[in-house]
Amino acid sequence: MTIAGSDPSGGAGLQADLKTFAALKVYGLSVITAVIAQNTTRVSQVAAVAPEMVAAQLEAITAERLPHALKIGVLGSTAVAELVAKSLDSLNLPAPVLDPVLVASSGTRLLEPAGERILLSSLIPRAALVTPNIPEAEVLSGIQINGVASMRRAARALHKLGPRAVLIKGGHRPSRVTANGRTSNAIDLFFDGCRYIEFSALRVPGDGAHGTGCALSAAIAAWLARGAELETAVGRAKRFITRALRSRLRLGNGRWVVDHFAR
Ligand SMILES: Nc1ncnc2c1ncn2[C@@H]1O[C@H](COP(=O)(O)OP(=O)(O)OP(=O)(O)O)[C@@H](O)[C@H]1O
Ligand SMILES: [Mg+2]
Repeated sequence: MTIAGSDPSGGAGLQADLKTFAALKVYGLSVITAVIAQNTTRVSQVAAVAPEMVAAQLEAITAERLPHALKIGVLGSTAVAELVAKSLDSLNLPAPVLDPVLVASSGTRLLEPAGERILLSSLIPRAALVTPNIPEAEVLSGIQINGVASMRRAARALHKLGPRAVLIKGGHRPSRVTANGRTSNAIDLFFDGCRYIEFSALRVPGDGAHGTGCALSAAIAAWLARGAELETAVGRAKRFITRALRSRLRLGNGRWVVDHFAR
């Protein structure tokens, strides 16, 4: 199941989560938290769904069955963040893969500071995995990231909040050309309280694409639903996003979009 905001362009958000689930042969359930008018260039309007309506969607689905895994993306409002945190316990939902989306790739802020506090106090502590990108990890941990050592410190600080594990995504690290003429890798840092694991892939040239974060966290949830262990799920999802990014598409004038069905 995904709990997320919509992206009518299909590159990110709930629509991209459902495509990712389908690509990985998992039946997708979805609960919409915000209707977002956006394309690959910009977000023009955000209409948060009322918390009562989010609760009604969750109750309708869970009255029939519980999902095998859960991903949480855009929450849209503080009230919805609170409701979702409460529902994790009251509806007995699985510990989520939590993508703490604070800002859209186009720069629009998607959660107010009070919502950020709910993330820190009630959602991150309940997560199986929290997947911030570098700017989100900096805001949530209060640690500036400029290399591997500070990335590890931020991962430790976020892990102290209580999730089972943290994955700081390295897409936003500046791309470098190494001495032998190759571009640097895109490295995501995983920390589960004991071990650091680096998930690394060859960096696709250019500035990535719209919706990489959504596809990665949805793919992790899909592999969890299929019964994989957390680390295995992250490794497989990393391969999925790298493949999807390599065959990215140009939809409009903005950022590229990933191809969820790339082979
Ligand atoms: N240019 C690239 N080449 C290869 N992998 C990349 C590239 N850019 C991002 N990734 C990978 O894509 C995944 C998502 O990371 P990213 O840091 O882009 O997340 P995000 O900022 O949350 O994405 P979004 O813009 O969708 O919110 C990570 O596994 C990251 O390593
Ligand atoms: Mg993101």
